[in-house]
Amino acid sequence: MEKVKESGTMNNCEVETPKNITIKGIISLLMQSVDEKCDRSVISLGMGDPSAYSCFHTTPIAQHAVVDAFQSDKFNGYSPTVGLPQTRRGLEVRRFDLLPDKGWEVDRDAIEVLADQNTVALVIINPGNPCGNVYSYQHLKEIADIAEKLKILVIADEVYGHLAFGKNPFVPMGVFGSTVPVLTLGSLSKRWIVPGWRLGWFVTTDPSGKFIKTKVVEHIKKYFDILGGPATFIQAAVPYILEQTDEVFFKKTINILKQASEICCDRIKEIPCITCPHKPQGSMAVMMKLNLPLLDDISDDIDFCFKLAKEESVIILPGTAVGLKDWLRITFAADPASLEEALVRVKSFCQRHTKFI
Ligand SMILES: Cc1ncc(COP(=O)(O)O)c(C=O)c1O
Repeated sequence: MEKVKESGTMNNCEVETPKNITIKGIISLLMQSVDEKCDRSVISLGMGDPSAYSCFHTTPIAQHAVVDAFQSDKFNGYSPTVGLPQTRRGLEVRRFDLLPDKGWEVDRDAIEVLADQNTVALVIINPGNPCGNVYSYQHLKEIADIAEKLKILVIADEVYGHLAFGKNPFVPMGVFGSTVPVLTLGSLSKRWIVPGWRLGWFVTTDPSGKFIKTKVVEHIKKYFDILGGPATFIQAAVPYILEQTDEVFFKKTINILKQASEICCDRIKEIPCITCPHKPQGSMAVMMKLNLPLLDDISDDIDFCFKLAKEESVIILPGTAVGLKDWLRITFAADPASLEEALVRVKSFCQRHTKFI
């Protein structure tokens, strides 16, 4: 195989230099640039991991389920490649636990223009990271119709599934499985606030059996053969966690996220060089636009975030890391007091760097 140079051509095709920016990589560089001599605590609005804040601690149901599975001594071995049978059954039973609703317009033309003969799937992230969008039933239905017309499948990243607090309720893409085959990605990480447990899943909704016929499922299984998979005792805890977690826990999380998103949007209104074009309706993040002409000695979003980390010990992800230069991704999944404090510091940073004309 021909070696790809950093930039240049391969088989006479232009090869773009990859921008080696990852979210984790940039956040660890931002952490390193925090001033160690500063006695204020570091507040990170960089990653979608609120597990450190007591208001977001997971439910005792999940803790007990894991402790029981661990202490049973039954789950110390390797699990099957595709997961424990009881875990798979538990997920199967609870795949449709949601109600549809109405809403929104989709840019059908834009999707059809983007697709070509090499397009195999349409990927949606709902609720969305980084924008905090929650698609309506109507919007998802249009997506299903377009995918069906283009003869491609839908991959639905629903890792933030159910974390919706705006006007649209969360609708799982799987409800359109009879229109188009849907491969749904789910996880315990966000809804149960245990990202360190590393447990996620794929669910197919495909009554017409297209995934089987096209061997998609077979290929996914082969891929899992080379992965370690989550710890067996965590897998064993999943059915109990899914069955027993009560609505009170979910409602509490959603209420705090709603309150935190409102604090975020309200405080940002007080900062002229940052605007929030779309209020988040779900997930844990929102994109904010930087108005650079209002700022002195800040060249772009990356410069903004590094100087902010150094001067204020606040970590925010530069939009460039998610493909949007001169935007900021703020993760509001922090306890309200820390969020308020972080935004006060962002405000004073912006005031210090405001251009006076
Ligand atoms: C949209 C989206 N999908 C998937 C993931 C990965 O989730 P997990 O922590 O379960 O690996 C994340 C994590 O932030 C995410 O934001």
